Amino acid sequence: MDDYQLLIDLHKDANRQGPGGDAEVEKVLSLAMVDRTEPLKIADIGCGTGASTLLLARLLEAKITAVDFLPAFLEVLEDRADNLGLSEKITTLCCSMDHLPFANEEYDVIWSEGAIYNIGFEKGITNWHRYLKVGGLLVVSEITWITDSRPPELQKYWTSEYPEIDVASSKIAVLEKNGYSPIGYFVLPEYCWLDNYYRPMQNRFKSFLKRNDNNEKARAIVEAENREIELYEKYRTQYSYGVYVARKMDWRTP
Ligand SMILES: C[S@@+](CC[C@H](N)C(=O)[O-])C[C@H]1O[C@@H](n2cnc3c(N)ncnc32)[C@H](O)[C@@H]1O
Repeated sequence: MDDYQLLIDLHKDANRQGPGGDAEVEKVLSLAMVDRTEPLKIADIGCGTGASTLLLARLLEAKITAVDFLPAFLEVLEDRADNLGLSEKITTLCCSMDHLPFANEEYDVIWSEGAIYNIGFEKGITNWHRYLKVGGLLVVSEITWITDSRPPELQKYWTSEYPEIDVASSKIAVLEKNGYSPIGYFVLPEYCWLDNYYRPMQNRFKSFLKRNDNNEKARAIVEAENREIELYEKYRTQYSYGVYVARKMDWRTP
């Protein structure tokens, strides 16, 4: 199995493939005062197996395009949508997030949890800007420093994993510079990491290693995940995912 197949094998049975939570999805909808009866067109980019896609479909009068470049995740999402009677509201799209086949101003909402880092925050929000209607909503979660300085061990790890990691004020400035008006920001609480993501993943390590004959690549994946978890447990007060909520501005307005 190559690395991608192993990652799929470890993550496809999970509810979430990254930190997040249902209450936090609801919080965004309240923050942005989303009218739950209004028909909306939403793209969930880097949806994984669709924890948030499914919740949005349940809560809103929406048609959702769920985008991921791993077909195996989209198959799980389709099965889940089917079982929950939500298939009518969800269309999956297997595509890379930097080559989206969308029309200009096609979407009311662009939603992306724990995924934009794959192409980088600034590149992502700049590229996706044209797909949003003016006044449309951008919701992205992004790893964020929540203190203004931090221990070298932590700084070194995350700047090498994701050089764009920064404080919220910098991320908000990037949004403002690129045609968005920020309307809200909050930090994902610890349970979004530990209860909703890391603990369930740790519970899958044993069967994952067994399925893969305890091979070297599988062991390396578990080791890397354990290192990330260990750092989070040690430095959880210093970083989190920030959830950024912004509206596309009308640049033509003087
Ligand atoms: C950390 S997971 C988050 C999944 C989901 N949003 C969640 O919160 O549970 C990141 C997702 O982005 C997808 N992904 C990574 N690079 C991508 C790319 N270039 N284009 C589309 N999807 C990508 C991965 O397959 C994965 O499902």
